[in-house]
Amino acid sequence: MKEQLDHAERCVDAMLAARDDRWYPAFHIAARAGWLNDPNGLCYFKGRYHVYFQHNPFDTTWGPMYWGHASSEDMVTWRREPIALAPSIEADQHGVFSGSAVVSDDGLLYVYYTGHRWHDEDEWSRGATQVQCLATSADGVNFDVHGVIIDCPEGITEFRDPKVWRTGDTWFMVVAARSLAGVGQIWLYTSADMVRWAFDRVLFEDPDPRAGMLECPDLFPLGDRWVLIYSAMSLPADGYRTRNGHNSGYVVGTWAPGEDFVPLTGFSPMDWGHQFYAPQTFEAPDGRRVVYGWMSALSVPPATQQADGWCGQLTVPRELFLDADHRLGSRPIAELAGLRTETIDFGAFELGVNEDKVLLADAEAAEIELVVDLAATTSDRVGLSVHKDPDGHATFVCYDDLADRVSIDRRLAAHGDRGYRSAPHPGGDKLTLRVLVDRGSVEVFAADGLAALSSYSFPGEGPRAVELSSESGTIKVDSLTVHRLGTIWADPDR
Ligand code: FRU
Repeated sequence: MKEQLDHAERCVDAMLAARDDRWYPAFHIAARAGWLNDPNGLCYFKGRYHVYFQHNPFDTTWGPMYWGHASSEDMVTWRREPIALAPSIEADQHGVFSGSAVVSDDGLLYVYYTGHRWHDEDEWSRGATQVQCLATSADGVNFDVHGVIIDCPEGITEFRDPKVWRTGDTWFMVVAARSLAGVGQIWLYTSADMVRWAFDRVLFEDPDPRAGMLECPDLFPLGDRWVLIYSAMSLPADGYRTRNGHNSGYVVGTWAPGEDFVPLTGFSPMDWGHQFYAPQTFEAPDGRRVVYGWMSALSVPPATQQADGWCGQLTVPRELFLDADHRLGSRPIAELAGLRTETIDFGAFELGVNEDKVLLADAEAAEIELVVDLAATTSDRVGLSVHKDPDGHATFVCYDDLADRVSIDRRLAAHGDRGYRSAPHPGGDKLTLRVLVDRGSVEVFAADGLAALSSYSFPGEGPRAVELSSESGTIKVDSLTVHRLGTIWADPDR
């Protein structure tokens, strides 16, 4: 595999030399150059957090899949690591697809991934064979590939994304499969030794037969429930929901080894923005359930794809929680406060009728924390324009009092895709908004994370302002704090 890895690094180096950083993230994980999609193999191993990701080192589009890699001591400052996995055996010759990582009792990292092989590389419609493979590592950087551990069942055309965990003495794996009838299912396997796996049962089948594949399944305990997350392919738009073509979401239920998964809820979005797909979770050493998602590129190609030499970033790491009504919330992990380089406290005030207030005249990377007393607010919308450039382009983040929703509206975006997304506001009379603005994206958390929205946002040239605005009424601000944020990269030049 060494030869393939060296060749891939040289290709990334060549693209890196021409990388345009106007939208390259300061505090989100992205490939040095080339393409990134799903987060893979999230784990804490030998004193470091590891994030691997689907990576095409040859181009800014999806293509032959490798596993890119970054590691960190604290989930705040990250080190670039060499590309970890390349196609190296017949079974994965056209792609080392998504998968997960767990640590064995004898201190090795076990990585399970999908080996992908087109039947005809020039004609993808002829289908593919997908199998589950194992690789191990003593340091998280160098891997030994052991080959296929679960073969593709007869007649199954799509079978991928193994996610492994241990309950008691048994190892469990969920895998996505398209059933013989063409319906998205999640299959459960078990193993005592991490190497020999036995089919246990079909754990879940999507009640909507149009969902042909439930990519990147993940099943984990949270509080006294089990949460099943998956990324449903090809669901049509349904009002505010499932507007992204392929959509990630969750179902809350109960499960125990040897039993069925019993759903207690329907399928709900995990994040209501334009860009959130293929999330994967892991358990941090202190027991927190942390998720990373891919800020996806599934509809209109992101603006960086054409000329900037890179495409695709992950979300910030988020801690998951369930509320009493079985709603899954997510908030940026507390450690991210470590990215703050300067804080401006605007305190409490009232914004008058039809007023604009500049919070930052120019910000590449910023965080806004806003608390508004909605009972004492008469403005139609509580608006935050971010990435506002001198030509008037901006991305509009707002609370809409008429609809009681929180939205990201890109109608005035300088570059890239437009459109808006909107989440119900579960916060009652108190609006608490936390907004993370990076060079090419915005993430919005309302009601302490009960509603989240993530979207790309590509500003035009010149300063990038952040502004608060009222419309046809006043805004009663209880508190407003704005932070400038630094970079996550220990060596930002690479
Ligand atoms: C999800 C996905 C996975 C697959 C990987 C390939 O975005 O399609 O199902 O393993 O990406 O890159």
